[in-house]
Amino acid sequence: MPSEFLIDLNEHKTAWKGSAKHYRPDGSTASEAGFVIPAEGPRHMFWMLDTIMYALPDGVNPDENHMPHEHRHGYETFFVDSGKLWLYIDGMKCLLTPGDILHLQATQIHGMAFLEDVKWRGTYHDYIISDDARAVQNVMKHMPETRDDKDLQKLEPPMDFIPRERFLFKEVPTEQCTAVRNPKRPLAEYKFEGVAMKVLVQRWENGGAKELCCAEMEPGFTAEWVKYPKIRELLYVRSGEVKFKVMNDEFIAYSECLVNIPKFAPHSLEALTKSEVYDLGGLTMWSSFLHDYTSIKTYDPERFAKPGVIDELKVKFDCPIKCMGMMK
Ligand SMILES: [Fe+2]
Repeated sequence: MPSEFLIDLNEHKTAWKGSAKHYRPDGSTASEAGFVIPAEGPRHMFWMLDTIMYALPDGVNPDENHMPHEHRHGYETFFVDSGKLWLYIDGMKCLLTPGDILHLQATQIHGMAFLEDVKWRGTYHDYIISDDARAVQNVMKHMPETRDDKDLQKLEPPMDFIPRERFLFKEVPTEQCTAVRNPKRPLAEYKFEGVAMKVLVQRWENGGAKELCCAEMEPGFTAEWVKYPKIRELLYVRSGEVKFKVMNDEFIAYSECLVNIPKFAPHSLEALTKSEVYDLGGLTMWSSFLHDYTSIKTYDPERFAKPGVIDELKVKFDCPIKCMGMMK
């Protein structure tokens, strides 16, 4: 029996609660977006779409067909999980391949030309989502046969999409584009027994709402959260196999699965293979916690050993991990 907390992104029938296709001027399908998790709370956190971006038709010049544009609101973080694309951003052009992550801030000019079909998985926050857009999606959800109905699509308010002009984008190596992140070159890295914690997007790059960290786990690494964690979590197992216990459900999350964990739900994990797990919810202030933890341990070992010091740090930075380490 599959767990309600496990979402296999490659199983569109169960992972996608609805979907929408977008078309090119010639009528061919440009993309198909699956709605995985709806936005939550005043800053529209946890919103997740899983989009298949289809390759440009043969003979189309990517430099002339990448639709440069900006969004006036919101932040976007995309995972490239298959295929390849040209990214045009901030006057630069670079190639994105599986493993890359693109972090976009409001008003940042960007355009994409997909050279192959790409699994393009995005989390968003601080977008403005109108009631009409939700109402259209609700009809599509209950009446899947209406998804391609132009009369219904017309009722959906225009997206926050400001077209921009083409520009002479200079081709650069991917690592020179600061909007492109990759766990191979984290902003900061903290190593512990059985796990490397990598900071990929800082909180100040997200209007203070969240951050993106990746845990690279060795087989046998375990983590247990406090009894009733006060924050809700969304984890993305991008590679590997990880056994989870969420409340009374035990299941294995494998490559390209989300683990959607409600607030207050007791949970723990054990890496069965070398695994890469992203904290997509991003509420824990990992970057600050790991920075101060490492600082105290390095510069003030006496204080580090005092009971309560690290517990206080966990409270200060919303880190609900009770214990972690290799299985004994
Ligand atoms: Fe965009």
